[in-house]
Amino acid sequence: MIPQSAIRNLKPEIDNIEAIEVPLLVEAVYRRWGYDFRDYAPASLKRRIRRAVASEELPSVSALQERVLRDEACLQRFLDQVTVSVTSMFRDPGFYRVFRQLAVPLLKKRRSLRIWHAGCAGGEEVYSMAILLHEEGLLDRARFYATDLNPAALDAAREGIYPLETMKEYTVNYQATAGKGAFSEYYQAGHGHVVMRADLSKNIVWAQHNLVTDASFNEFHLILCRNVMIYFNASLQERVHRLLYDSLAKDGLLVLGRQESLQLTPHESCYQALDSRERIYQRIG
Ligand SMILES: C[S@@+](CC[C@H](N)C(=O)[O-])C[C@H]1O[C@@H](n2cnc3c(N)ncnc32)[C@H](O)[C@@H]1O
Repeated sequence: MIPQSAIRNLKPEIDNIEAIEVPLLVEAVYRRWGYDFRDYAPASLKRRIRRAVASEELPSVSALQERVLRDEACLQRFLDQVTVSVTSMFRDPGFYRVFRQLAVPLLKKRRSLRIWHAGCAGGEEVYSMAILLHEEGLLDRARFYATDLNPAALDAAREGIYPLETMKEYTVNYQATAGKGAFSEYYQAGHGHVVMRADLSKNIVWAQHNLVTDASFNEFHLILCRNVMIYFNASLQERVHRLLYDSLAKDGLLVLGRQESLQLTPHESCYQALDSRERIYQRIG
């Protein structure tokens, strides 16, 4: 057994080596596979890379680099570890409640709606918005573009199958959003899972899009980019804010996550807050 004092002495040494290894790994992933994590917030990136090393049962970040360069299946596992896909239906119910009150009346003025969920993870946020718009009579005029960099997350989202045990929490969330029906109307329960109702997804396009490396691809009336930029460093947040601004119609709405803000956008003065607590902004310039 290695004494605790020896482990304590080793730690600065490991930290120093990892400070070299992590940027090399990230550069290797970018050059080999095109996924660019170079401007992600360093502390959380390092934590998640350490987790990837442990789950591959490897001795070091360098060993992970060796494997990820040659093995595409390892790349997918790496993406699953490094991109945080935590999400839920009607996450932050207060947001959906305020959205019904303040944003829906604005959306009702439009004859058609293009909506972009940037960083949609397993699709829970998209189905939540589809349910809300269905209840507000807007679903038929909406076209959703739901994108993420992680292809495995998109495959799950496309299927619309979720564990049955999550429905209890999602029902509570839904009720807190001032939902107009019963949440159970929107899915069919099977053995241990549920399948979301097909009509909810008929206007959803699921596609891979990387906010770091891909360009704007349409003009939207509503963009949700929640709990994604929180993992980026300041300069990347600024770049992604530019992309979102360039993709938003004049008068369009931008929604960020609870811990995100407009502070780092070069276009802060081009937005007004519809609700600053729930991070709902309207482009005015
Ligand atoms: C924490 S989830 C947020 C999901 C949902 N928006 C929500 O708020 O519940 C973050 C998602 O952003 C995606 N993501 C991370 N970096 C990205 C990038 N550069 N381009 C597109 N999606 C990205 C991850 O794959 C993950 O699915």
